[in-house]
Amino acid sequence: MKNKITAVYPGTFDPVTYGHIDIIERASQLFDEVIVTVALNINKKPLFTEAERKDMLKSVCRKYKNVKIDSFSGLLADYAVKKKASVIVRGLRAVSDFEYEFQMSLTNRKLAPKVSTIFLMPHEKYTYLNSSLVRELSKFDGNIKDFVPAEVIKRLKEKRDRGL
Ligand code: COA
Repeated sequence: MKNKITAVYPGTFDPVTYGHIDIIERASQLFDEVIVTVALNINKKPLFTEAERKDMLKSVCRKYKNVKIDSFSGLLADYAVKKKASVIVRGLRAVSDFEYEFQMSLTNRKLAPKVSTIFLMPHEKYTYLNSSLVRELSKFDGNIKDFVPAEVIKRLKEKRDRGL
């Protein structure tokens, strides 16, 4: 019998965008189980709390039956081993992503040799997108409907109304 392949897709997801969802959908078609996991101990000051980021991910990923939402702190390599994942999924949007991703994937391989990083390319219409851009546009009431789902627009508006 074929072994079940579990993949983890880590990120800050502050907030999740259509670019992330594009990667999640592709991964869900390739692997038996995909754990989308919110990184907590990174050197960023997220706008959204852990619970808010997970809630948005749960809401937008409901239709993918083999996708679970989680969070982690500590090393990604340790987390992947703990979850019995053999794959780490990362999105590659442009050449500028490559150097950082290359370093990260080799480090993770050193730490967890049985876990392979696989890069997926989102649709080209999302190659320039990132969460900071979405946060900035929302802050000044720019149109973000092509970048994030309605649920995320609503949450961003709540933050804006609170002056955040
Ligand atoms: N579509 C749109 N935007 C995307 C995207 C996609 N497909 N893929 C990435 N991005 C954006 C994100 O929105 C984010 O934007 P922002 O910086 O404006 O908020 C940016 O690209 C960075 O992407 P993200 O996937 O969130 O990566 P990260 O660099 O914030 O986090 C971790 C990388 C969490 C995987 C890494 O820091 C980690 O593993 N940390 C755990 C500790 C550890 O193990 N360290 C050693 C690693 S070798």
